Amino acid sequence: MSGKLIVIEGLDGSGKATQAGLLAGWLEQAGEKVRKVSFPDYESDSSALVKMYLAGEFGSDPGDVNAYAASSFYAVDRYASFKKDWGAFYRDGGIVIADRYATSNAIHQCSKLPREQWDAYLDWLFHFEYQLLGIPAPDLVIYLQVQPEVSQKLMSARYHGDESRKDIHEHNLDYMNRSRQAAEYCAAKLGWRTVHCTAGGAMRTVEDIQSEIQSLIR
Ligand SMILES: Nc1ncnc2c1ncn2[C@@H]1O[C@H](COP(=O)(O)OP(=O)(O)OP(=O)(O)O)[C@@H](O)[C@H]1O
Ligand SMILES: [Mg+2]
Repeated sequence: MSGKLIVIEGLDGSGKATQAGLLAGWLEQAGEKVRKVSFPDYESDSSALVKMYLAGEFGSDPGDVNAYAASSFYAVDRYASFKKDWGAFYRDGGIVIADRYATSNAIHQCSKLPREQWDAYLDWLFHFEYQLLGIPAPDLVIYLQVQPEVSQKLMSARYHGDESRKDIHEHNLDYMNRSRQAAEYCAAKLGWRTVHCTAGGAMRTVEDIQSEIQSLIR
């Protein structure tokens, strides 16, 4: 017997942490055995390479680290967290809510590759993470779709206008736009459930989005 893995996915600043937290709380209230995890696992040493990458130690352009190398940094961090933190809980039948997952590699690394290489990359990625490393594949991926201009605004608000606190992905609007195209492509190809989080150039309320997510889970 194994548990359920529900992934909350979306571009930077799309509300993943907010919605994952509320979803975990809701399921807990309903008496379910729930754990919330988030990736990268910045608390753990296993995220060291991800931190070096995001801080620009391998180059200040995301493209300075190729899709396969960067993907492996994120993948081994998930492997470590599965082994040390939530694997036993999951195998015991628990519900794991993940704020980002292997699906984030799909979004953020496809954007480094020409479109005709996306399918080959995605095949490699999921084979690597779910088969070779052996971490579980999600039962459900919920994609929080936000218009890029709106998420940029949210992020600037979070950093109180201090642009220097953005990481190398967040800095690069062109990269974010390509990531958005990759996200749309993956959602369609891989059967992710899309929740449209913006309406009329603004975010829907947190509660409104959460209630749509809850009805998807039901
Ligand atoms: N529906 C919403 N309306 C307005 N603000 C929101 C909404 N959802 C989240 N926010 C705010 O937007 C910011 C980003 O939210 P959150 O941290 O949940 O997103 P995230 O997807 O986890 O971000 P990141 O990708 O950077 O980790 C936070 O300041 C949060 O309070
Ligand atoms: Mg987050």
